[in-house]
Amino acid sequence: MMGRMLPDTAGRSSAGNLSVGGCDLLELAQRFGTPLYVFDEATIRGRLRAYREGLRRWPAGGDVLYSAKAYLSPAMVAILVEEDCGADVVSGAELEIAVRGGLAAGRIAFPGNNKSAAELDAALAAGIGHLVVDSEHELELLAGRTDGARVRALLRVSPGVRPDTHAHISTGQVDSKFGFGVAGGQAMAALRRALGVAALDVCGLHMHIGSQILELHSHAAAVDALAEFAAAARDELGFETRTVSAGGGLGIAHTAAETPPPVSEFLKVLTESVERSFSARGLRLPALHVEPGRSVVGPAGVALYTVGARKHIPGVRTYVSVDGGMADNIRPELYGARYQPLLVRDPEATPVETVTIAGRYCESTDVLVRDCPMPELRAGDVLAVPAAGAYTLSMASNYNAGLRPAVVFVHNGIARLVRRRETVDDLLRCEVTGATVTPT
Ligand SMILES: Cc1ncc(COP(=O)(O)O)c(C=O)c1O
Repeated sequence: MMGRMLPDTAGRSSAGNLSVGGCDLLELAQRFGTPLYVFDEATIRGRLRAYREGLRRWPAGGDVLYSAKAYLSPAMVAILVEEDCGADVVSGAELEIAVRGGLAAGRIAFPGNNKSAAELDAALAAGIGHLVVDSEHELELLAGRTDGARVRALLRVSPGVRPDTHAHISTGQVDSKFGFGVAGGQAMAALRRALGVAALDVCGLHMHIGSQILELHSHAAAVDALAEFAAAARDELGFETRTVSAGGGLGIAHTAAETPPPVSEFLKVLTESVERSFSARGLRLPALHVEPGRSVVGPAGVALYTVGARKHIPGVRTYVSVDGGMADNIRPELYGARYQPLLVRDPEATPVETVTIAGRYCESTDVLVRDCPMPELRAGDVLAVPAAGAYTLSMASNYNAGLRPAVVFVHNGIARLVRRRETVDDLLRCEVTGATVTPT
């Protein structure tokens, strides 16, 4: 039962401690300090391969564009290159990190609801694979380009589907800042306009209905709404949808109670829905892109913390504080994410009390897990928080001048430091002191 939320290679070391990738997590905590983020390479590669494998059978071709926003680093980009995957980026900086890491710009898509003119320039100059056009403002910026450069583009549409996930990570409903709504006619008007922009070779449609979705029927419903729009676009504008990006969204188990569908099942439902919905309307099958983030790195990452202070409030609650929290993982506060920490020295120990695992930052809301059944915890114990690989480090802050954690990739018993812990010098690097500004 412990296994579902842990990386694929999780087990016990010879000392009986929780291990990942053949590395004893207690040893890693001692060697690199805590908080520490440990990523299992085999899990990342396994998920990427499952996506690639699932799309290989799609007759019109397709691509796996890992969603960089979930977790991005040169080490991650190197794995994408080795696993023959592309990426989706949502900022000029993500684009630059991916390209500098060796990813071919042609395998990168760029969604985002408010790209700047400079970011659009950078994307076109880099020779990006697909620009995902998301707003009238973006169309205006692109219409003003006169340098003759052209980029393949997808129009981001909002299919009007509200998946069964937290409202804060739902994006495909009518009331969303992302995409042009199909229901109100905005998508058709935007497509008409985009087809007249010389810089754009509009080749298809993009959607992303939300994240941490544990059911599959919303994806099928969204595909059908998209196909309905594609048929209307053919009839009204003579537009052929050659490529569809279905975004990401597949959920993961953060606790043993969650049962996400496997990648293969997700892709089966997705491809069967596209086939059914497009064929039913006499549309040719499009190339299919997916943009998975969480389901690739989420299960691969384990966060390690050391237990410190304990505060017992009789009849109310017991707080057990750890040495990290909202500055390295804001998901519990941001959208009520729930975790199930494990005691590294005895991961299957029987719970003996219900405690609230608090972070160390100066906010009452800095709580990693509320009311969590745990075995006896002593100061100095190391806790492992599974399923912590996605939307944690990529959202990390320096609140309370917190130093962002080190990151270790593990594989076949070897631990490789891919990011060192920050130092106060790192925090001060961008501060400008002693400069005077002379009024002009
Ligand atoms: C456009 C787009 N694609 C892909 C993703 C990745 O989603 P997930 O991490 O749920 O797979 C996101 C996440 O917000 C997104 O906005």
